Amino acid sequence: MGLWSKKSITLLQAEAAAEGQEVTLRRALGALNLTMLGIGAIIGAGIFVLTGTAAAQTAGPAIVLSFVLAGLGCLFAGLCYSEMASMIPIAGSAYTYGYATLGEFIAWIIGWDLILEYLFGAATVAVGWSGYFVAFMKEIGVNMPTAWTQAPLGVIGTHTLVRNIMCVDAHGVATAAANGVCAAGMTATPGIINLPAIILVGLMSTLLVIGIRESANFNNVIVFIKVAIVILVIGFGFMYVNQANWHPFIPPNTTGEFGHYGWSGIVRGAGVVFFAYIGFDAVSTAAQEAKNPQRDMPIGILSSLAICTVLYILMALVMTGLTSYKNLNVPNPVFVAIDAAGPALRWLSFFINIGAMLGLASVVLVMLMGQPRIFFSMSRDGLLPASFGKVHPRFQTPYVTTIVTGVVAALVAGFFPIDLLGALVSIGTLLAFVIVCAGVMALRYTRPNIPRPFRTPLVPLVPILGILICGYMMVGLPSDTWIRLVVWMAIGLIIYFTYGKRNSRIGGENAVAPAAGD
Ligand code: ALA
Repeated sequence: MGLWSKKSITLLQAEAAAEGQEVTLRRALGALNLTMLGIGAIIGAGIFVLTGTAAAQTAGPAIVLSFVLAGLGCLFAGLCYSEMASMIPIAGSAYTYGYATLGEFIAWIIGWDLILEYLFGAATVAVGWSGYFVAFMKEIGVNMPTAWTQAPLGVIGTHTLVRNIMCVDAHGVATAAANGVCAAGMTATPGIINLPAIILVGLMSTLLVIGIRESANFNNVIVFIKVAIVILVIGFGFMYVNQANWHPFIPPNTTGEFGHYGWSGIVRGAGVVFFAYIGFDAVSTAAQEAKNPQRDMPIGILSSLAICTVLYILMALVMTGLTSYKNLNVPNPVFVAIDAAGPALRWLSFFINIGAMLGLASVVLVMLMGQPRIFFSMSRDGLLPASFGKVHPRFQTPYVTTIVTGVVAALVAGFFPIDLLGALVSIGTLLAFVIVCAGVMALRYTRPNIPRPFRTPLVPLVPILGILICGYMMVGLPSDTWIRLVVWMAIGLIIYFTYGKRNSRIGGENAVAPAAGD
């Protein structure tokens, strides 16, 4: 049995109910807090950075349709997550759902894969935040030393790791060196470490150790401000749209190359902006801290996704309406779009910077919240060391895994370039979505009678569409990303066979034969 042992749903539900006998996670979150956590994790680098690149390089104004397509894939996956989260309200999210439906081996694969989404996601967005922070400090007259705000490693093309050399001009403006060589008059400055990114990860991890309620309150304030700023940009931006910028809405693909405008550009654009949607599923990792998970998990997952989808589509329309999509190939496209409206909207620029910085910080916070809760569940099942399952006696948080996650994420953020990390986060998340959709179908057939407080509509159509759209977006990602995914999974398998499998608690007395379907 071993590899394919499943964790019985009855046992999972009993574990969730067995509170009061030991120190447990604190049930402090209601539907509103959960929705805010979802929005906190969703709106970030995707909309503030990637929309512009994707519009300029792949889809043109039709990036709006890329958002619709990626949003549909997420909606189908979100409906499946909601059924699982209401049925199995345990902190481990997709890892736990995998354990209940597809067996220990697949569960380990999902758990290991989710590290790409949450831990690497937090590190990626922390690096993006650091870029905004350095630019903001410069704006207010503080020049941060380049060497201490840049990772020592850079990447050339899509895979060659090199020493990261920045070229700094007389005004302190830094640009990446082409092939390690700087133009005359520029000082070559090798990156030492990305200190702002490390400090952000450290601060967010500390808050998460102190308490889930404190973290949720902090997140609520940030989300309120960032959503207000996004609405300001949409509202004021629409007044200055020049409709000529939307024509042609789908620029023709003149080269015949896949992904270069036309319909294939919309599909490739969807793969890129998918990153902007990542995070709604982080809500499900807080299941053991929800006051009424059966009812509130689906509300948190689906409302945060719905709100952000509407905001994203409107934001993409405004950005491509304010200026030609060709001008948006910059690290700060929202700023560039608003700037194109002329002096009347200059006052918004300051708020856009604040919105981006706060937005990215809350993404880091919620991703750093999700990861420890998955490690926590894996440890409770014996797949990771028992010390990972400790709950702080006073703060009632999984403090050991929160600290471990924070330290590793800080090291990744401090030393690696953002380009290398982003695509890995997307592929890892898409894989988890595909497996959750498959899991919902599997359980409907093997355990039709388990109470499902939330039922995914139109099964098997919705999960199948979720698998197809998410699978299609995966196929569109570069081959280097696939190779990294395979290498990462291979490392995971080595750890599973040398540690997890031997120490698993489920392979023993609680194992249920696969044929029993539980
Ligand atoms: N959706 C998150 C972001 O865009 C990961 O930053």
